[in-house]
Amino acid sequence: RVFRIAAIPADGVGAEVVAAGRTVLDALAAASHGTFAFDWTEFPWGCDHYQRTGRMMDEDGLETLKDFDAIYFGAVGWPTVPDHVSLWGLRLKICQGFDQWANVRPVHFLPGVLSPLRKAADTELDWVVVRENSEGEYSGLGGRNLSARGPGSEVAVQSALFTETGCERIMRFAFDLARTRVRRKVSSVTKSNAQQYGMVLWDEVFTRVAADYPDVETESVLVDAMSAKFVLHPEDLSVVVASNLHADILSDLGSAMAGSLGLASSANLNPEKRFPSMFEPVHGSAPDIAGQGLANPIGAIGSAALMLGHLGLTDEAARLTKAIEATTGAGVLTPDVGGRATTTDVTAAVIDHLT
Ligand code: NAI
Ligand code: MG
Repeated sequence: RVFRIAAIPADGVGAEVVAAGRTVLDALAAASHGTFAFDWTEFPWGCDHYQRTGRMMDEDGLETLKDFDAIYFGAVGWPTVPDHVSLWGLRLKICQGFDQWANVRPVHFLPGVLSPLRKAADTELDWVVVRENSEGEYSGLGGRNLSARGPGSEVAVQSALFTETGCERIMRFAFDLARTRVRRKVSSVTKSNAQQYGMVLWDEVFTRVAADYPDVETESVLVDAMSAKFVLHPEDLSVVVASNLHADILSDLGSAMAGSLGLASSANLNPEKRFPSMFEPVHGSAPDIAGQGLANPIGAIGSAALMLGHLGLTDEAARLTKAIEATTGAGVLTPDVGGRATTTDVTAAVIDHLT
C-alpha cells in the first residue's frame, strides 16, 4: 500500500527534523520489500512563504491537504513574522480546519538520557498528556479595542470557549486510552476555583464521563498543583487530560523532565478520520540553533512512529520506537541532552538500529 503524506517542514529546525523523519520512514519502507511505501508531497509553507505571498499557506491549502493519508509537520514561527500570525495562519488553521480535536503527547524517559529531574537511570516515567485541541483558550474569541484613543486606554478581551460536546469527546478519548495502559488512571486538570464557567463545566463533564469507566481510577487536580505534582510525584500519573492552554504548558514541562523539548512527540488526531491527522514534534522552530545541525530529531522521529501507528503499521511503529531507545541508549545524543552528535548522526543511528 502506498501512503500519501503531506510534509510541511515550515520554519527553522522544522526543516531539519522533518528531513530526518522522512529519511527514517523511507528506510523503513525500503526494508518492507514493497509491502508499503510513502508518496511524499512537500509544501513550502511557513514564514518565508508569508514574506513572499502575504499568506502562511495557500488560500486553498486545506482543500489541497484533505485527501492525504496524514500530514507530517515540522515547526512554525520565525522572528520576521509575529508569532500569533504565523501560528494561526498555518498550524492552528490545519488543527482547527481538520477538527484535530485530540492532541496526544506521550512523555517518557528514554534510556541514556538523564535530566535535572531524572538523576538516576532507573527512575521511570510514562505518561500521555491528552490535550483538548479544538476550543478552550485557543478558540480565538475576543478582540482588541483598536479604536481606543490615546495611550494607555486600550482594552483587550480573550475568551475561552468550552462546549459540553468538546469536553465530553476529549474525556472519553482519555478514558479509552487509559484502558489500553498498564496504569488505568486519568487525571483531569483545571483551574475551576478561579475560572468559574468553562472550567466548572469541564469538571462536571469529567465526573459524569468517569462514571462510565468504573475500572479507571480518576483524580481532578488544579493546574498549579499539577505542575508541582509533575515534578514531585511523576510516578503517580498515567493519562493527563487538560485544556488547550494547560496541556500546552504541562507537556513542555513533561518533556523538559524527560530531558529536552527536542525529545517530545505529538499527534493531532481527527479520531473520526473524516480529515487527515497531523504528526509533529512538540517543540517550536528553535531559531537559536536552526541551520547548525544541532536539532534533536528524536521528537520528530517519535512523531513519525505515532504516524505509523495511525496508518495501521503497528509493527513498524514498535520497531521504530525500539530503534529510538537503542539509539539514545547507545549514547548517540545531540547537545541538548548532553551529547555531541548531530541531527544526521542521530538519524543514521536510528536507521542502523531498525534492523
Ligand atoms: P522552541 O521550542 O522553538 O525552543 C525552546 C528551546 O528549546 C530553545 O532553546 C531551543 O533551542 C530548544 N529546542 C527546541 N527544539 C529543539 C530540538 N529539536 N533540539 C534541540 N533543542 C531544541 O520554542 P520558542 O523558542 O518559544 O519558540 C520559537 C518559535 O517557535 C516561535 O516562533 C514560536 O511561536 C514557535 N513555536 C511553534 C510551535 C509549533 O510549530 N508547534 C510550538 C512552539 C513554538
Ligand atoms: Mg507548546
